[in-house]
Amino acid sequence: MARHEFDADRYAAASTHQTEWGHRLIAELDIAGDEHVLDIGCGDGRLTGQLAQLVPRGRVLGIDASSRMIDAAQSSGARNCEFRVLDAARLDMPGEFDLIFSNAALHWVKDHGRLLRASFDALRPDGVIRFNFAADGNCSHLIGVVRELMADPAHAEGFEAFEWPWFMPAPDEYEALVRAHPFRDARVWGENADRDFPSVEDMVRWIDQPSLVPFLSHLPTAARQPFRDVVVERMIVCAGRDDGTCFETFRRVNVLATK
Ligand SMILES: C[S@@+](CC[C@H](N)C(=O)[O-])C[C@H]1O[C@@H](n2cnc3c(N)ncnc32)[C@H](O)[C@@H]1O
Repeated sequence: MARHEFDADRYAAASTHQTEWGHRLIAELDIAGDEHVLDIGCGDGRLTGQLAQLVPRGRVLGIDASSRMIDAAQSSGARNCEFRVLDAARLDMPGEFDLIFSNAALHWVKDHGRLLRASFDALRPDGVIRFNFAADGNCSHLIGVVRELMADPAHAEGFEAFEWPWFMPAPDEYEALVRAHPFRDARVWGENADRDFPSVEDMVRWIDQPSLVPFLSHLPTAARQPFRDVVVERMIVCAGRDDGTCFETFRRVNVLATK
């Protein structure tokens, strides 16, 4: 799959909702304090650092495919926390972890059969996976606008050979995939996390980083700004409200399963 580089500072300013989901996921974890933890798609490492605080006698490894994200994460400096540039599609660390955690990242990974197999292998006995990522119906406004524009003759040529960046399964589809692996006590459930952005500016920050990154990086440089501007324009029309707030659908798949 294509690897995308993200801007860690701009992501930090546009990721309130991802961070909120992550805090909740972390608060619900059942942690003893000596676990070895893997954070897949750790981004700028803010949540990874919190995981590290929960395991003072353990350690945490954060992996991310974006080297700019890992550069930002490395500057966070927690003692029992390490970061590595690694594509989740290449995960191969048998028997190393008690917990594999992932927040708001795995919809960027296409082959979840391989990911689940590699995650199962990477767990120690009784280890747990806890994933939360985008489900079918996520970002329906943005995806509708982007798909419509990609089919528009004004932009279609730029998207030749473009690989759609996201895998967003329905929860029951994903449950069947998890159950095809030898996990026990597997739970897979959907979640409606629809959200109001407080202002157009907040929504635009989120459109710019991370949402449009894979689309703009595929386009020739001269075509990027015009495409971005028309996406923003149409999003304001379809997601904007009279009071200045904007609405988008955020649907999640949650996974909890034990080896
Ligand atoms: C929305 S950010 C989430 C970051 C962090 N987990 C959080 O909740 O703030 C998604 C992250 O997934 C990473 N990512 C995307 N595809 C990936 C892959 N194949 N392997 C590892 N990381 C990936 C991106 O680089 C990005 O940092």
